[in-house]
Amino acid sequence: MISGDALGVALPPQPGARYPEAHSQRGRLVDRRRDIERPSPLPQHILSSTQFDRGFLDYLYTLTTTIRRFDKSREGLGYLQSLLPHKRAMLYFTQPSTRTFLSFQSACHVLGISASEIRDAATSSERKGESVEDSLRTFSSYVDLIIMRSPIAGLCERVAQLLDGTPRPVPIVNAGSGPDEHPTQALLDIYTLRRSLRLGGGIDGKTICMVGDLKRGRTVRSLARLLTNYDDVRIVFASPPAFRIAEDLRHDLSVSGLKFHETDDFEAAIADADAIYMTRIQDEYDAVGAEPVDTSRFHLTAAHLPRLKTDAVIMHPLPRRDELDVAIDDDPRAKYWRQERNGMWVRVALLTMLFGVDDRVQLPEL
Ligand code: NCD
Repeated sequence: MISGDALGVALPPQPGARYPEAHSQRGRLVDRRRDIERPSPLPQHILSSTQFDRGFLDYLYTLTTTIRRFDKSREGLGYLQSLLPHKRAMLYFTQPSTRTFLSFQSACHVLGISASEIRDAATSSERKGESVEDSLRTFSSYVDLIIMRSPIAGLCERVAQLLDGTPRPVPIVNAGSGPDEHPTQALLDIYTLRRSLRLGGGIDGKTICMVGDLKRGRTVRSLARLLTNYDDVRIVFASPPAFRIAEDLRHDLSVSGLKFHETDDFEAAIADADAIYMTRIQDEYDAVGAEPVDTSRFHLTAAHLPRLKTDAVIMHPLPRRDELDVAIDDDPRAKYWRQERNGMWVRVALLTMLFGVDDRVQLPEL
């Protein structure tokens, strides 16, 4: 049998192989995916949070937690890096981004994928009049994966469909499509909720309060739709009347049977919630000369903390402004920095699934 050394790569761990620092506290480490079915078929693209079901989520999150174990040792990280060094990704981000860009770029590096980037359409041939579709088709000649953020709702789906009809259909990942969707943010939000609420029985049966610009915040739209995969979840949407959820989301949630309630009583909504998901006002979409909406009643401050449940979870997709007081950062219920870091690991897991190497990420039973 050929050895990993002979190939110059690390092969999957053999039965009995050990990752020195990967033991659990109890000295036993079990990969729970052995009881969870691998989704079939694996996704070809990541376009919308509506494409996932509970089985997919359970598999993805167990995989993510397994992958995080590999981060605990140099040997484990070296193994992850040996999985996809023959792959190249394009990060096409023509809307501002700090954490999503870095999170995807870092996820690529974790897996050995080399990543190139375009961060401004003005530096591409779009400036010469090339259509965005032609630009993206051009990338597909050079790379194996396109991760894209754009102000245009629906563009990812269009490009995925276009590329599927060509001889080089590379996967498309939606990293934010205008005010429409942000599916990978929703996936990491649920991972964070699931971990933070695990001692209280998980997400099923919980009340999640979403606050802020619910009309144009794409993270809210994707997360609310993803929550329909859980049982007896109730969403309370708290916002000024001008920023209530859009009609299409209201319709989809009603059809799904998920219980939800819309209110402008912020104080009552947060007191009842198992998780509070704060969001920023998306004023980049304001019409020129529009009167600003007063949102000051929807700011979470340190003064609210005593009124929240003692085991409540406070989240925010970030970046934040004054809707989330920095004085809250040290409260044990604040999970947004952890949420941000979780994002990279969920994205690593997603990329292994897109390239079909997720089944090579296995920990031995020690
Ligand atoms: C969000 C986004 O871009 O939609 N940020 C993120 O990706 N974490 C939220 C926002 O910009 O308000």
